[in-house]
Amino acid sequence: MADLQGDTSWFTHDRFGLFIHWGLYALPARHEWIKQREEIPDAQYDRYLKYFDPDLYDPEAWADAAANAGMKYFCVTTKHHEGFALWDSKLTEYKATNTPARRDLLKPMVEAFRSRGMKVGFYHSLIDWHHPHFRIDAIHSMRNHLDKDKLNEPRDQAQYAAYLRGQVRELLTEYGKVDMLFYDFSYPAGAKGRPEGFDGKGRDDWNSIQLMKMTRELQPGIVINDRLDLDDVEGGWDYRTPEQFMPREWVTYQGERVLWETCQTFSGSWGYHRDETSWKSVEQLVQMLVGVVSRGGNLLLNVGPTGRGVFDDRALHCLSGMGEWMKWHSRSIYGCTAAPEEFQTPEDCRLTYNPETNRLYVHLFTYPFRHLHLDGFANKVEYAQLLNDASEVRFHQPRAGHTGDSSLERETLTLELPVQKPNVTVPVVELFLKE
Ligand code: GLC
Repeated sequence: MADLQGDTSWFTHDRFGLFIHWGLYALPARHEWIKQREEIPDAQYDRYLKYFDPDLYDPEAWADAAANAGMKYFCVTTKHHEGFALWDSKLTEYKATNTPARRDLLKPMVEAFRSRGMKVGFYHSLIDWHHPHFRIDAIHSMRNHLDKDKLNEPRDQAQYAAYLRGQVRELLTEYGKVDMLFYDFSYPAGAKGRPEGFDGKGRDDWNSIQLMKMTRELQPGIVINDRLDLDDVEGGWDYRTPEQFMPREWVTYQGERVLWETCQTFSGSWGYHRDETSWKSVEQLVQMLVGVVSRGGNLLLNVGPTGRGVFDDRALHCLSGMGEWMKWHSRSIYGCTAAPEEFQTPEDCRLTYNPETNRLYVHLFTYPFRHLHLDGFANKVEYAQLLNDASEVRFHQPRAGHTGDSSLERETLTLELPVQKPNVTVPVVELFLKE
């Protein structure tokens, strides 16, 4: 039996990855849950198979956009809840090869990202609103169908679970090394916050234990997320996945700090959404990345490519904005984590720390006037500079006899910053700590 833990060394170093949600839902372009939300019957939804024609698909360009943004890994929806397979699965006809694309869309993507040194991740939906043996439950697209019970009669969930395993086996044997698997998601009856009698699905419906073991056996070292409903099972997960909110502190499980990665969208939905206007600014995105690393986590940032097979201009704008910042500042992200507790975070700042180089990074979310006071830092810093241009930042330690503040008591080290904010989204001061 393979090791029940994934190799997370790259994961905690790389910190920043690209999520890709791409499937038939790119065509309706109004949310990847559209089949469920609008309760669209198969016959109507399946028309998209006939029209899915990503004629401009260029995975090399996708991988370039991600690499230039500073991303080190990617994770793509091999299949989302709609059931459509991006690859040439032998187990279904509901796949990319049966669209006008007429080919496996996954393989060239994996190759393009891998050839740029990026780690490979697969998001695979446990849920499937297309498969005939997936039993209709409380969140299924057919949940309100009048003949629901009758439609459920011939459905045998165990057959679906076998299909699920079969597809995952294809993915884990035909695409070389896969570094990460993001299963999505479980919603068991009886879980906190679910109503009485909620008709959900969990570990028994997916055969989660078997799936987890097979995953680890076929890809030793693979890192698995936490949505198989195996929280309490050894090897059931490697990292937590808080979604679409910013954890306030290092994520814990039963009181212990754990590995975590938050996944976030640019504008709200995961699949391509034409009309959404709630796009985050580059500044918000950079601050999000910094905030996540300052709490010991990873950021998986999502793009929903269009039905033509491209990242639209809004997504490219966000990625290149992040890349511009990362070009000068990635040293405060890669290999970094939360600062040791002895260093207090100054107002409007976030700290990250690289334990290997013993450097601390102060990120200035609002730019102060001339002085930045770092309480608790006195006598701990050897040298300081702005990270974007390696220009020295002078500092002074508190001195006895100086009146007017309590810096001596607070062991404050005061940085002397230029009056003008450096021309970068979030300025960073790099502190070389004393041994
Ligand atoms: C959710 C949603 C989904 C998205 C995912 C990303 O669980 O169902 O559409 O793929 O989260 O984490």
